[in-house]
Order: sequence, then structure tokens, then C-alpha cells
Amino acid sequence: MLKVKIAPSILAADFAELGKAVKRLEENGADLVHCDVMDGSFVPPITFGSQMVEQIRPHTTLPLDCHLMVNHPKTQLEAFAHAGASIISVHVEACKKQTLQTLKRIKRLGIKACAVCNPETPAEALFECVAEADMLLVMSVHPGWGGQKFIPESLKKIEALREYAQKAGKPQLDIQVDGGVTPENVKEVISAGVNVIVAGSAVFRAPDMRAAIAKLRGE
Ligand code: DX5
Ligand code: ZN
Repeated sequence: MLKVKIAPSILAADFAELGKAVKRLEENGADLVHCDVMDGSFVPPITFGSQMVEQIRPHTTLPLDCHLMVNHPKTQLEAFAHAGASIISVHVEACKKQTLQTLKRIKRLGIKACAVCNPETPAEALFECVAEADMLLVMSVHPGWGGQKFIPESLKKIEALREYAQKAGKPQLDIQVDGGVTPENVKEVISAGVNVIVAGSAVFRAPDMRAAIAKLRGE
């Protein structure tokens, strides 16, 4: 069994206090900090960009997992690398036919590369990325907002990707899920083959952050 890593999303944090929020995540046992970057075009809302990530960087030693929900991810890679991103995730829907090329460019910058697919995109769209990617991300809600309900069909996609990765000789590949994960459904998600859990509301809205993060490990 792969070690389960928890990547709380700062989308659910107080944006006026992001430095304190990432510090709190580290003190309470998080493994990564998930940064939801939205451009108002790939998804309707606008959140923040590389400058914000650069300003968060000194406040934690945790890896910064940057999820780019933007229409032109290729134009942003250098800026996020410079800002201190540890992982950059790009959507296959935004990269179109250039996903593999984009993953390679991310890796050349010395950063881990992840390919993401939206709920309406089949798992097969990520198959070709297995050889190149350090991580795959299955969106289990429609991107753009926190606090939505987990889409159950995502479980089948996760299973298909874990099986494909195993057959392709990459059984240790990180598979991440993002959206609507709670202590109640996390066990199902982990048994489907996920080992990296994104959670916004379940971490920041919990009365006890440490207990919430521990519960999300499915222990
Ligand atoms: C949605 C974001 C998610 C979101 C998850 O577009 O990519 O990372 O913050 O939030 P919860 O855990 O509240 O569904
Ligand atoms: Zn995200």
C-alpha cells in the first residue's frame, strides 16, 4: 500500500492570512500545500497566480502543489518555477494535444509534473501521460469552487488509472483526487487507488485541523 499524503487546499483558507494558513497546515500534519490557481477563463473565478505562491513560499517547508486551472498553462511554467512550486498540475483540457510536451517542459524546470482531467473527460485521456507524469489528478468535482459534492463516477476513473499505471510498470505513481473528499468517503477513494488527497473544506472548516488531517489518511 502506498503512503497516503494529504494536500489541503488553501482555496478554503482566509486569503488575507495565507502565510499563517500554510504554517498551520504544516503544524497540523499536512504533507503538501495545494494551491488552486484560477484564471477566470478556464474556470469562472479568479484566485491568485505565481506572485502569491512566491509570497507563501517562505512561510512553510511543505512542497507547494500548484493546480493550474488556466487556459494557457504553458505561458505560466517559468513564473511558477521561479515562485518555488514543487509540483505543477496542468489540465489535459487546456493543454489540448500538447499535454506531453507541457509535462516534459515542467520536468525540465526541475519540478514534478502532473496531468489533470475534469469529471467529463474519460480516464483514457490520461493514459498517454502515465509514462511522463510524476502524478495524475482526477477532478472529483467540476473545477472552480470548493465545498461541492464528490462525483461518485470518479472512483471508476481512479481504478482504471491505477490499473493502467500498474500494467505500465509504474505501480508507485502518485494518483491524486480533488474535490468533495471528506473523512466519510476517503476510505473508498483510497481503496480505488488514490494516494494523494486534496481537501479544502474538510480541513479548514473542521473544528480540529489536526484530527481532520489524520482522519483523511483513512486510518
Ligand atoms: C476546485 C479545487 C479544489 C477545491 C477542493 O476547483 O481544485 O482543490 O479547493 O475543495 P473541497 O475539498 O472543499 O471540495
Ligand atoms: Zn485543486
